[in-house]
Amino acid sequence: MIELKDVCYSYEGEVVLKNISINVKEGEKVVLLGINGSGKTTLLKVINALIFPQKGFYFYCGVKIDKSKMKDRDFVKSFRKDVVLLFQNPDVMLFNPTVYDELAFSLRQLGLEDKEIKERVLYWADKFELSPYLDKPPFKLSGGQKQKLCLACLLVLEPKVLLLDEPTANLDPKTTGWLVDFLYDLKATTIITTHNLSLAGELGERLLVLGEDHTIIYDGRVEDFLKDEEKMLKAGLLHKHKHKHGEKEHTHYHLHNYL
Ligand SMILES: Nc1ncnc2c1ncn2[C@@H]1O[C@H](COP(=O)(O)OP(=O)(O)O)[C@@H](O)[C@H]1O
Ligand SMILES: [Mg+2]
Repeated sequence: MIELKDVCYSYEGEVVLKNISINVKEGEKVVLLGINGSGKTTLLKVINALIFPQKGFYFYCGVKIDKSKMKDRDFVKSFRKDVVLLFQNPDVMLFNPTVYDELAFSLRQLGLEDKEIKERVLYWADKFELSPYLDKPPFKLSGGQKQKLCLACLLVLEPKVLLLDEPTANLDPKTTGWLVDFLYDLKATTIITTHNLSLAGELGERLLVLGEDHTIIYDGRVEDFLKDEEKMLKAGLLHKHKHKHGEKEHTHYHLHNYL
């Protein structure tokens, strides 16, 4: 469904994605792990066609995604409905007068009928426990509720591919648990970024790791990655240091984890 071949991307000469080749099948749940600055957000932007590979190729369902393809209005309309991205701090994007209008916004843009819009809005508001707030302005919601609203605004589109950029970074443990459960049941193909190793196993089955060298240094099961100290060091997720107990020197590994 999503196929990247030798994708490279740099900002003003600074390489942030280096020869990225990945293949994600329909229905897969992928976790993209890497330390800050490794290129996770940039990779999601490529997959969301907000930016384009400077070298290499991106195919979505076999269609090559490049600047000229994204000028084809009919294609763009279906692509934007299919592939959606939840930004890292999405609540800055909330701008409608009420929660209802926020949820209805993109459906109105698509030209759906009012009856269909209302059905979808009420369905997702209920599923995300936002029904009591439909008439309230979004800025009056709590942080966790805003995050839920942002996600619901994407899901009303019934996307095929859901890209989430560090969705748990600003959530309390209860809302994080809710999100983990919700994503577990969701049928869409998902790619979720995180720098939190301990959450990786809960968010998906397949782990992709971006190393400090901006290449994919691991593609496999989460459990196997946790056994691979060398790869964890390469990802910058482990910190190795030596210290002495009397005459004996020990090597210790510290997990750089953000709980
Ligand atoms: N718009 C931009 N212009 C210049 N440099 C950028 C831009 N966006 C990101 N970068 C740089 O690219 C690198 C990778 O960024 P990013 O993809 O956001 O990584 P991550 O999401 O893994 O933290 C960082 O060093 C960042 O400073
Ligand atoms: Mg990021």
